[in-house]
Amino acid sequence: MSASARIIRGRIVSFTDDPAAAGLSARHYLDDGAVLVRDGLIEAVGEARDVLADAPEGAPVDDHSGSLVMPGFIDAHIHYPQTQVIGSYGAQLLDWLHNYTFVEEQKFADHGHCARIAEFFLEELIRCGTTTAMVYCTVHPQSVEAFFAASERLGARMIAGKTMMDRDAPEALRDTAERGYDESKALIERWRGRGRIDYAITPRFAVTSSQAQLEAAGALAREFPEAYIQTHLDENDAEIELVARLFPGARNYLDVYDRAGLLGPRSVFGHCIHLKEAEVGALAATRSVAAFCPTSNLFLGSGLFDQARLVRAGVRVALATDVGGGTCYSMLRTAAEGYKVLQLNRQSWPAAQVFYRMTLGNARALGLDDRIGSIEAGKEADLIVLDARATPAMAHRMETAKGDLDAELFVLVTMGDDRAVRQTYVAGAPRKL
Ligand code: GUN
Ligand code: ZN
Repeated sequence: MSASARIIRGRIVSFTDDPAAAGLSARHYLDDGAVLVRDGLIEAVGEARDVLADAPEGAPVDDHSGSLVMPGFIDAHIHYPQTQVIGSYGAQLLDWLHNYTFVEEQKFADHGHCARIAEFFLEELIRCGTTTAMVYCTVHPQSVEAFFAASERLGARMIAGKTMMDRDAPEALRDTAERGYDESKALIERWRGRGRIDYAITPRFAVTSSQAQLEAAGALAREFPEAYIQTHLDENDAEIELVARLFPGARNYLDVYDRAGLLGPRSVFGHCIHLKEAEVGALAATRSVAAFCPTSNLFLGSGLFDQARLVRAGVRVALATDVGGGTCYSMLRTAAEGYKVLQLNRQSWPAAQVFYRMTLGNARALGLDDRIGSIEAGKEADLIVLDARATPAMAHRMETAKGDLDAELFVLVTMGDDRAVRQTYVAGAPRKL
């Protein structure tokens, strides 16, 4: 018997493909299923009676019969230093950054503060069923160290990076093109590919990085082609005007990043709301990813993401919370707001597609679908247990769902949050407190 073997029994839902393209055959459902996990991996999945019959002797059975067992959620864009920025009143992007965010981020000069916030942040992700995230730290290398150390202790698959920013921010939050390069390089060499940790080269955005710094980020990307790149793009009208003034030679906002060599299949661009046609074409041609951040885009009054336009053009899309411009850690609540944004654009988003996006879809966007995002033998055992009757109002609404799985999934999207997440397994271990 293996001490780390465990059986998780419940109603299993997992996707093998995008239901928007492949239809509902892409959704696998077992009404009384079980997952055998061992040493952090999924060893078997199937009908409960079969998995239980073949189980290693003495392996504990976590019986979640009646609840849904799914892959853990993946958040493609979030800022861990902004846990105490959420809900800052009354400003749009540029004022919000200067008046609230840059004030809070200065506290990450202190290692103790970094460690405390990293612990809180990861606990909150787990509470909400998010097992992988692509994370911005601050300009301070110690903010990255603290985040990766806490992620490593938890055993979670996390991607993060030091924000590079050498202008238009308080002195205490500025590096230089050279220091940003040197510090990022040292962090990449220390952390990238260590266990379940990966690194994202993180020039914050074209407003706070000079041309020289963007080029330094491009040099890092060439030196470390396996590292990710993350930044912000076309979020807010005033931001876009400012970028045009700062880079008069660029054809458009994305061109600023393109000239620095920052586009590609491992690049994730947050927001992508006000894209010009040429930018949509360049995102598609380079297989770059656009991250839809609905609660942030609504909270900061940034605009409505046009998912159908991007998908039609062949742009890879991901879903993300963008805490603390975003207002909650829950991918369920994020998807609920995303659904409403798409409604305003007269676009549909069926529940199956929403759950695909939060799991395998986002795993594909991050190039991680060989490891996470679905419940299959050999994949990493990041699993969540969801209860569509978690609150009185949800239980009441579920009386009329009448065994319809799509209706149940849509109740979870519309009404669910951390309370609907009964358990979160990280590499096979239950971690929700
Ligand atoms: N653009 C540059 N930095 C940020 C940030 O921290 N949050 C959001 N929403 N947009 C940004
Ligand atoms: Zn962001």
